Amino acid sequence: MKIGCPTEIKPQEFRVGMTPDAAREAVNHGHQVLIQKDAGMGSGFSDEDYTTAGAHIIATAEEIFATADMIVKVKEPQAVERKMLRPDQLLFTYLHLAPDPEQTHDLLESGCTAIAYETVTDDRGGLPLLAPMSEVAGRLAPQVGAWTLQKANGGRGVLMGGVPGVAPAKVVVIGGGVVGTHAAKIAAGMGADVTVLDRSLNRLKYLDDVFGRDFKNQYSTAGATLDLVRQADMVIGAVLIPGAAAPKLISRAQLSEMKPGAAIVDVAIDQGGCFETSKATTHGDPIYNVDGVMHYCVANMPGAVARTSTIALGNATMPFMLALADKGWRQACADDPHLLNGLNVHAGQLTYYAVGKALGIDVVSPSLAVKQ
Ligand SMILES: NC(=O)c1ccc[n+]([C@@H]2O[C@H](COP(=O)([O-])OP(=O)(O)OC[C@H]3O[C@@H](n4cnc5c(N)ncnc54)[C@H](O)[C@@H]3O)[C@@H](O)[C@H]2O)c1
Repeated sequence: MKIGCPTEIKPQEFRVGMTPDAAREAVNHGHQVLIQKDAGMGSGFSDEDYTTAGAHIIATAEEIFATADMIVKVKEPQAVERKMLRPDQLLFTYLHLAPDPEQTHDLLESGCTAIAYETVTDDRGGLPLLAPMSEVAGRLAPQVGAWTLQKANGGRGVLMGGVPGVAPAKVVVIGGGVVGTHAAKIAAGMGADVTVLDRSLNRLKYLDDVFGRDFKNQYSTAGATLDLVRQADMVIGAVLIPGAAAPKLISRAQLSEMKPGAAIVDVAIDQGGCFETSKATTHGDPIYNVDGVMHYCVANMPGAVARTSTIALGNATMPFMLALADKGWRQACADDPHLLNGLNVHAGQLTYYAVGKALGIDVVSPSLAVKQ
């Protein structure tokens, strides 16, 4: 198969769909890998890294879209890229179609087959191609929160780990899923006094069994949350209710009960955020002040650490990318129901029920589409 990887063109996107290691694996499997010139630069991979791995460097995205059998990317194809997709072409990338009727329409019109990273599943009911970005955002949250807490940035001037004789920062993590667990691990590792809140008793049991010595956990009620948030130096928002906007757990009025200069890192901002006062910010201008509380609400946190994020995403996508290239998408999806769950679009038909429901478009069963 000819596998093409164009440079990402969405603003502020520095990741790349294939690492040199992924390219090498594909070449070892007998495939031809086409990488757009400088596609890896934002993640610290040079064209030479790719040619050493056996890939070919191609000058333009147009040439890649014109010749590749499969396009491997990070972000959803932009309008100019969608125009270049071909009916016999396979697209493997994040799509997030439900809130995006324009993109959905263009993909259906292109006739391509599109497999979305975010809907591929695993045996434990997880989303293995979303999890790496949650891990990155979770581990980054205490790091950016610690920076936000510094006096020069408007924070309380509290050191995460304290020093002998001075208490460490109190960190509250709301939501103990992938983001929350990784945030709590790092905050505890920095020496902070950490409590994680969750609404799932099973999750709390897991956190207690595995991390009981590193951080505390508590059942998430409105009262418990407010009580902890009042005492906190830093609050990390990490809740998710699948398919819904994040619940607003702290109101504007409750914000004024927080300590002056406390830091909020609302990782759930991509789902609207779990504080009433949260609004999305960018890496260029990440923090703002409401009633003396500093808010960090960057919607694409993994972009700050593009190299780590690219490698983490590449590790997760590579086995699926190789299966698609080795077997062709029909056989690969027929063999693996989790990869089949990733099928969103085929030959002008929508094949993912939740997207069809959100956009009012008829859906063809993915298992039927594989046989067409
Ligand atoms: N800003 C970014 O760059 C970025 C990056 C990755 C993920 N995210 C977002 O982070 C959020 C968390 O993602 P995740 O992968 O950890 O999800 P997850 O499903 O693994 O975890 C969410 C947790 O929230 C808990 N929860 C739900 N309602 C709650 C409540 N009222 N109180 C306390 N806990 C509650 C759930 O029980 C679950 O354990 C999502 O909104 C995700 O989109 C943002």
